Amino acid sequence: MSSSLRKAAVAVRENAHAPYSNFKVGAAIRAGSGAIYVGCNVENVAYPEGTCAEAGAIAAMVAAGETKLSEAYVVAGSDLPVTPCGGCRQKLAEFGAGDVAVTMATTGGIEQQTTLADLLPGAFGAAHMKG
Ligand code: THU
Repeated sequence: MSSSLRKAAVAVRENAHAPYSNFKVGAAIRAGSGAIYVGCNVENVAYPEGTCAEAGAIAAMVAAGETKLSEAYVVAGSDLPVTPCGGCRQKLAEFGAGDVAVTMATTGGIEQQTTLADLLPGAFGAAHMKG
């Protein structure tokens, strides 16, 4: 796992808007071009309107004109590495193949690596809409 992804995720986490959960999350993804896109969680007083760090990073990637995800890194200030929520697993799977590496980390330095396929077995995909 590249240290530049970790650096980017740790840095953007500082900008998280998480006054309700006090749980700041940073995400960094590498796109097909090699460029890194970042996102942080943005909570809202109307709680369901909040968005996850991964969603922000994906939105930044797509806004920049890229649609291929090759690597992802998520970091939080928890004791255990934070795992992407169910919705974010589906969002990541929209742009990344099953073998894409996802590193889940703590600000303290613990890292746990998995893949998109392991995070979302049996993912709903475009093939399911055929026929
Ligand atoms: N959160 C993320 O941003 N990403 C994750 O992978 C897990 C959870 C955010 C959503 C909410 O703002 C806060 O963490 C607590 O759930």
